[in-house]
Amino acid sequence: MSQTKGLEGVVATTSSVSSIIDDVLTYQGYHIDDLAEKSSFEEVVYLLWNGQLPNKEELQSFSQQLVENMEVPEEIFNYMKAYPIADVHPMAALRTAVSQLGLYDAEADASDIETAKRIAVKLQAKIATVVTGFARIREGKEPVAPKKDLSFAANFLYMLNGEQPNETATDAFNKALVLHADHELNASTFTARVCVATLSDFYSGITAAIGALKGPLHGGANERVMGMLSEIDTPENVDSYIQDMFDKKEKVMGFGHRVYKNGDPRAKHLREMSKKLADITGEDKWYEMSLAVEKKVTDSKGLLPNVDFYSASMYHSLGIDHDLFTPIFAVSRVSGWNAHILEQYSDNRLIRPRAEYVGPDKRSYVPLEER
Ligand code: ACO
Repeated sequence: MSQTKGLEGVVATTSSVSSIIDDVLTYQGYHIDDLAEKSSFEEVVYLLWNGQLPNKEELQSFSQQLVENMEVPEEIFNYMKAYPIADVHPMAALRTAVSQLGLYDAEADASDIETAKRIAVKLQAKIATVVTGFARIREGKEPVAPKKDLSFAANFLYMLNGEQPNETATDAFNKALVLHADHELNASTFTARVCVATLSDFYSGITAAIGALKGPLHGGANERVMGMLSEIDTPENVDSYIQDMFDKKEKVMGFGHRVYKNGDPRAKHLREMSKKLADITGEDKWYEMSLAVEKKVTDSKGLLPNVDFYSASMYHSLGIDHDLFTPIFAVSRVSGWNAHILEQYSDNRLIRPRAEYVGPDKRSYVPLEER
């Protein structure tokens, strides 16, 4: 048996949800550039789950279903109030709350497609309420109920801040959601598929995926990008700070990718939005620093920014707390996880690879008193 470290290049399943071919990302055959420029997040979610873009009526009815499912049982918020809140990272809170949501869903254990589709809607809708609710509860505020007439992106910002966002903020946030929605067989999606392939329940699959997304080599990188920019503090410090990281053989968060070798096609959209928001807020320091970091890392190592790099300065310009960046990634990516879980359930086989054994040769058992 031979193995590939980190399963690099291994094709582990077939999927029609999204593809990365020659560094081009498509969702169900639609180019990510078109979707980022033209579509609402709701349209993209519908596309990922149904294989086709909705018409007007379908979109209206789907958007309504999402907003009608946003409320979460009061118990979820009561549990959050009992968490050791000062020490709880929002990703840990999200992982716990999503698992708890399963306790309040009478059909949580079903894996037939019709029920699974209903669970997908519930999870997609409620995850936004969970993230924003926790963000408010830890500040001693009450969660804000969603508004029926707002889009998914606007509702998220409304539930987070308690006031309706302007059009620029909503558009930028909508685009970020579209760009993060799915990404072929990334680590968290693979985790979700492995979990439900045992015919475990939908909530377990999403809880497991959130756990995988949380790591700094995956979705956790965006928060760390902002931590790094905050430490660098001024564009003049960029060169020496990054050089020091290279000297210590540390990885620069937000750079590199397992699949893309000529750059992550999502990064340019996020760079553009980061600039746009910096121009509007008048605080261009974070964007300028990001540009300087990109130049240094690319010139020195040939590494290019991934989706996590410019999303950091962009979310910062929207006034979002840095430790909410990865939960926001989850709010979008749950759409892709859901699509992959539905695909897995519809044609399931247990996912069970092998390991190449590299431990000691066979040996005789030595009784305890003789060791
Ligand atoms: N900074 C510095 N060096 C890097 C970086 C980086 N960001 N990324 C890769 N390298 C170097 C490695 O040190 C390694 O060098 P070596 O061969 O001299 O040891 C080489 O490039 C290959 O790196 P691997 O870690 O083996 O590449 P892999 O495909 O396993 O990892 C990953 C991809 C995890 C994304 C990596 O580039 C990384 O750690 N980046 C930083 C974390 C990050 O931004 N994660 C988000 C990825 S996008 C997403 O998941 C949403």
